[in-house]
Amino acid sequence: LPVLPGLAAAQDAPTGVTPLEPAGTPRLPRGFVWGASTSSYQIEGAVTEGGRKPSIWDTFSHTPGRIADGTNGDVACDHYNRYAEDVDLMARLGLQAYRFSIAWPRVMPDGTGPVNPAGLDFYDRLVDKLLARGILPMACLYHWDLPQALQDRGGWHNRDMAGWFADYAVAAVNKLGDRVKPWAMLNEPSVHAIFGHGFGNHAPGLTGWPSYVMAQHNQNLAQGAGIRAIRAIRSDLKLGTVFSLQPIYPSSQDPADIAAAQRFDACWNTINLDPLFHGRYPAPFDGVFAQLVKGGDMEQIRVPVDFLGVNYYGPSWIKHDPAAFLAQAGYGAVPEGTPRTLLGWPILAQGLVEVLARLRDSYGNPPVFVTENGACYEDPAPAAGLVHDPERTEYIRAHLVAASQAIAQGCALNGYFAWSLLDNFEWAEGERRRFGVVNVDFATQKRTPKSSALYLSQLIKAHAAGA
Ligand code: NOJ
Repeated sequence: LPVLPGLAAAQDAPTGVTPLEPAGTPRLPRGFVWGASTSSYQIEGAVTEGGRKPSIWDTFSHTPGRIADGTNGDVACDHYNRYAEDVDLMARLGLQAYRFSIAWPRVMPDGTGPVNPAGLDFYDRLVDKLLARGILPMACLYHWDLPQALQDRGGWHNRDMAGWFADYAVAAVNKLGDRVKPWAMLNEPSVHAIFGHGFGNHAPGLTGWPSYVMAQHNQNLAQGAGIRAIRAIRSDLKLGTVFSLQPIYPSSQDPADIAAAQRFDACWNTINLDPLFHGRYPAPFDGVFAQLVKGGDMEQIRVPVDFLGVNYYGPSWIKHDPAAFLAQAGYGAVPEGTPRTLLGWPILAQGLVEVLARLRDSYGNPPVFVTENGACYEDPAPAAGLVHDPERTEYIRAHLVAASQAIAQGCALNGYFAWSLLDNFEWAEGERRRFGVVNVDFATQKRTPKSSALYLSQLIKAHAAGA
């Protein structure tokens, strides 16, 4: 790759940073799509503007003790008011695509019933601005900000959610489907089920195994209903959904830990994959879903997708834990020497190859986008218009090399979206934990690129130049 003036530092292996595997400079094929991701509640703010009503995350973040630093999404990155500036920034970085989510509580503030034109108008303006800058919009319909009004009717415990979601999806597509072509239904349904409805550290803060199982099944139903409803009104769209996928390893060779890791894998990965691609729940759950699954459910969930979004951060090591609500499987010891991010998440770029190979071998090798990948680190303050983040840069480099290896091994990977464009409201961690390739000063709303953004920018330009 040619070294662009002024960006050599970003391309070189950052000094003082432990190199991650695999080594090398990413080389992705022609046509590979380069982008960044965000989600509505995490960046928009403006929670009462344009007729928006509360979501479960408004309720949750305003409940004392729920968010580590006491922040909430009331303002976040104020993207609702600053979207034009943010799109200009994306264009300056050379991003080719942008994945954002649509806030259901803007579009249908009561969850069902009348559409709120002002809410849709925001996305209308955003999409036009993206297209004017030559950036491909990818919309995600549900990134965890359920209208509170629907939670009050049972939320993901209510089977009616599938129909409500389909109505909302059709309303969004009716407005934007002439310009937005790739549409993702749900973001990380298993994570939303596990943390929001089982562990309780995410909104809506519900706990326990039955709660988790119901939330998972009804999300699967909604995903199928959404895809079918949109297909019924338009044939020119690319429809998919987004899963968080991880390699799951046992934390020891004890058979109890090995069995626990298999159960955890079922809860995290195959509880989404098997119903969508094979029309059944994974084996450890034979019986669990028996009372829940009604005739026709599995047929509704199993539906061809045009693409699958994969969010990849790292693997987990799992042990048998009788106290864990999730199938008696809990987080266990991580092998010594495994690098970790600030949140303690283990890093294994090679794991991306592993999850993509699994899609290739067991799920028919669907077209895939990495719709999220990134890392949380303690960043220094901006200096001279830049934030130096060599660890995040190294994380991205290693995962892009892994992406290229997956492609070389026949995986149908078509693009990569960094998580995240901006530092934002990181759920239960609040604003104190940063994943952006662009720094946000939450007091002034000033945006400052990090060296990771410049690194991405340089890679995109070099690839466009045919390097
Ligand atoms: C995945 C989620 O989709 C996103 O909302 C979150 O911020 C990142 N992981 C980082 O935790």
